Amino acid sequence: GTPGWTARTDAVVIGSGIAGLVAAMRAARHGRVLLVTKALLDAGSTRWAQGGIAAALAPEDSPEEHLADTLTAGAGLCDAEAVRALVTEGPDAVRRLIETGAHFDLAADGTVSLTREGGHHRRRIAHAGGDATGAEISRALLAALKQTEGVEVIEHALVLDLVMEGGRVAGVTLHVMGEGQRDGVGAVRARSVVLATGGLGQVFSATTNPVVSTGDGVALALRAGAEVADLEFVQFHPTVMWLGPGATGQQPLISEAVRGEGAHLVDASGERFMVGRHELAELAPRDVVAKGIMNRMRETGEPHMLLDGRHLGARFWETRFPTILASCREHGIDPVTRPIPVVPAAHYASGGVRTDGYGRTSIPGLYACGETACTGVHGANRLASNSLLEGLVFAERIGEALAEEREPLADGDGAPARPRRKGLLDPSVRGEIQRVMSTHCGVLRSAEGLAEARRLLEELGGRVCDDPCVEAWEATNLHTVATAVVAAAERREETRGSHWRDDFPDRDDVRWLGRLSGRLEAGTF
Ligand code: SIN
Repeated sequence: GTPGWTARTDAVVIGSGIAGLVAAMRAARHGRVLLVTKALLDAGSTRWAQGGIAAALAPEDSPEEHLADTLTAGAGLCDAEAVRALVTEGPDAVRRLIETGAHFDLAADGTVSLTREGGHHRRRIAHAGGDATGAEISRALLAALKQTEGVEVIEHALVLDLVMEGGRVAGVTLHVMGEGQRDGVGAVRARSVVLATGGLGQVFSATTNPVVSTGDGVALALRAGAEVADLEFVQFHPTVMWLGPGATGQQPLISEAVRGEGAHLVDASGERFMVGRHELAELAPRDVVAKGIMNRMRETGEPHMLLDGRHLGARFWETRFPTILASCREHGIDPVTRPIPVVPAAHYASGGVRTDGYGRTSIPGLYACGETACTGVHGANRLASNSLLEGLVFAERIGEALAEEREPLADGDGAPARPRRKGLLDPSVRGEIQRVMSTHCGVLRSAEGLAEARRLLEELGGRVCDDPCVEAWEATNLHTVATAVVAAAERREETRGSHWRDDFPDRDDVRWLGRLSGRLEAGTF
């Protein structure tokens, strides 16, 4: 309802993954920061990241080569300038992360141990705890946050909408679910707002994303009329453990690094079906591998493919992939003696809220960072392990850009902004949105299926409820984002990167390359 409390700060950062934490700590050098997060500080996607963080750290590697691999994976849609910033600032940003206290795995000579993943022509992926890279980065950043002055933290706080004044950001409304002074709905006045709310994997029924990844930042930005781009490019991770037909919710990831260290993809007859489909075979960019798996499943009628890492041996599994080994064994599969059943599942939103090289969106005072943003570094398909790096590099850049937002914000008229209460969707639509999206807007898309998805989503949009609870806001955000993903997927009549149209099976550079017409424009929703 009407905000029960108001607060004032210089910048509000929403989200506590690598992007939000780094942006908040950087911004605190220049002013007061309020960091809000929807659940606990470590509940987002960062802590689930396995494979690692990509950077040209090896003496034989170079930012130029990292740039080339990133552009190839992005299938013609990357913004080369943004990629250049990512790959050239990346190595030092990772070194700063190490100085902050993140412990990466080291090689025998004491240098950072580097592995390979799909689409990388070199060993370039730094990892921690074997396959627990994100957990270590999250731990180190949260420890550093505790030592940082000037950042106030509110957990269990869902951001509702932007407060706008004179065409620019003047704050946000929040719903705080905790006890204490600031519970219930409130408004924070601030000159800058940074959206670092992570991804939107929860619009699909099977995803690697945690339950909190409901696209809140993209939905809020769309409601405010910000420009978004490349939303059709939802990346499906090729190897997620198959838990049986109809498995829903967050699925166990089997890192691409397992293939990087030599595991093979085979079908039920034991044939390595990726060999001959791409020069990098199992280590082709992940859209190629995901499509390879889907095609082989279609050809054979099998419900999953197999990832065979038996030859890596027990000792290697225990030291290099302890998290994955434990997760497989929990599900009754010992990868030392049995191949792991795998299928693709929704993993990463390559698109998001459109930004410039310093995280600025089309709305003055609104920034976006990490998976929520579309900086242009991923194009049609993110290169493996470029996401933690993007969050890191662009959060540092945003921290610096915020220093320029110095003009004081007027006091406002004293009336706190009123968050919307009407038109929120019933929480029960969440599962239905997920079914619609997985059935009609998943790895394989067609005009017919997408039109059906649009129709079903329109129907679900009528299922409103009166209770402005957090679940209703999340259902509404999922619906907004799903509708936008379907619209973008319908419009892009070609197959490119992670967007695969059955009815337009070819990449169409003449019609689509470099043209903005395939992108959603501001205010479309
Ligand atoms: C993985 O470990 O396979 C995930 C890496 C990524 O998504 O970048």
